[in-house]
Amino acid sequence: GHVMTSPDTITVNGERLWRSLMDLAEVGAYDDERSGLRGVNRLALTDADAEGRRLVIRWMEEAGLAVRVDRMGNIYGRREGSDPAAAPVLTGSHLDSVATAGAFDGCLGVLGGIEVVRTLDERGITTRRPIEVGVFTEEEGVRFGTDMLGSAVAAGRLTQEYAHALTDRAGSTLGGELTRTGFDGTADVLLGPPHAYVECHIEQGPVLAEHGVEIGVVTGVQGISWQEITIHGRAAHAGTTPTHLRADAGLAAAQIIVRLRAMVDSGEYGDLRATVGHLAVHPDLTNIVPARARLTVDLRNPDDAQMARAEEALAAFLRSLEGIQFTTRRMARTGYVPFDEDVRKTIAQAADDHGLAHISLLSGAGHDAQEIAALSPTAMIFVRGEYDGISHNPREYSTPEACAHGVDVLATTLLRLANR
Ligand code: GLV
Ligand code: MN
Ligand code: MN
Ligand code: MN
Repeated sequence: GHVMTSPDTITVNGERLWRSLMDLAEVGAYDDERSGLRGVNRLALTDADAEGRRLVIRWMEEAGLAVRVDRMGNIYGRREGSDPAAAPVLTGSHLDSVATAGAFDGCLGVLGGIEVVRTLDERGITTRRPIEVGVFTEEEGVRFGTDMLGSAVAAGRLTQEYAHALTDRAGSTLGGELTRTGFDGTADVLLGPPHAYVECHIEQGPVLAEHGVEIGVVTGVQGISWQEITIHGRAAHAGTTPTHLRADAGLAAAQIIVRLRAMVDSGEYGDLRATVGHLAVHPDLTNIVPARARLTVDLRNPDDAQMARAEEALAAFLRSLEGIQFTTRRMARTGYVPFDEDVRKTIAQAADDHGLAHISLLSGAGHDAQEIAALSPTAMIFVRGEYDGISHNPREYSTPEACAHGVDVLATTLLRLANR
């Protein structure tokens, strides 16, 4: 496209950005047997996550950032501006991953922020406001059960006490894992409101590719409802127990899965998405009717009222299951979060000035930006992915060019916001 250059339109070093992404992808790398691909497994506060954090802190320090770690293990690297009293412009994302990840989810936003700082340094640019690059702890929520955890505590929505007490499946607490990995920092976890927050992230979906554009200006994030359901049936002999005498927890779990899909297909709950991503039966043996089943339910909906209706319908269905007792545990719950109009406009203008076509779209995934949005004007930049934007899968891929273009837009956006 036609590129307009002005002193506040800056391009980053795409090769250097790509090298960082690929170097970080080696931390927690594994060979995915099913796909034959190399994946990333860096669950929050594991040894791999700690190693990734140390590498990124080193890169922050090499880029001249002053690094602080807070009581949730959130990391902030700060580049001073000419007016140190001015509230900083914050960017960032997360380094933790799901167990079957690619190299981009979260990492692009963190490494993109560092690449912006390197670029500003090279060009001798001093902004009026400080710029900070944040790394938020346990964004994925798959180890300790609550997503966007570090940013939610930083924004004051969840307490540090709640977060530290969360346990993983092995019974380790998050607080204990912070200490074990050395990321139990001393900085105050409550984040002073930044001037603005901008997060660059892969789209993780097919929309940008379908529209043939590289940049997404994110309008907001849909609601997320996570709960764990435990079904209590009765263990019994598979050969001798007549069907009418069974209380089969596995059957009830299957009924829930099928019911959720029917709710989605009915169209009665708006744009509902429903996933049972975890299912375990006990005692988990061939010739025993399952005594217990545990499953997670992940609901997404951009409409808060429709989300509430879907949650109520699921609860009513559970109560209707005969001969079955159940308990539910709330894991995470967020409503629809709209992003700031001015920050969105600044992003769209930056994309225009870089000659990059863009569209506006809603985020299907959760992001730290939805938490920081409670503190300051916030919006996100989405980068196109290949293979229908598949993510939470080792096949996740965005091209070096797409990543560089996303971070170009980030750089120009941050520069302009930091001079306001
Ligand atoms: C986090 O990536 C989520 O949206 O589940
Ligand atoms: Mn992410
Ligand atoms: Mn993710
Ligand atoms: Mn996410």
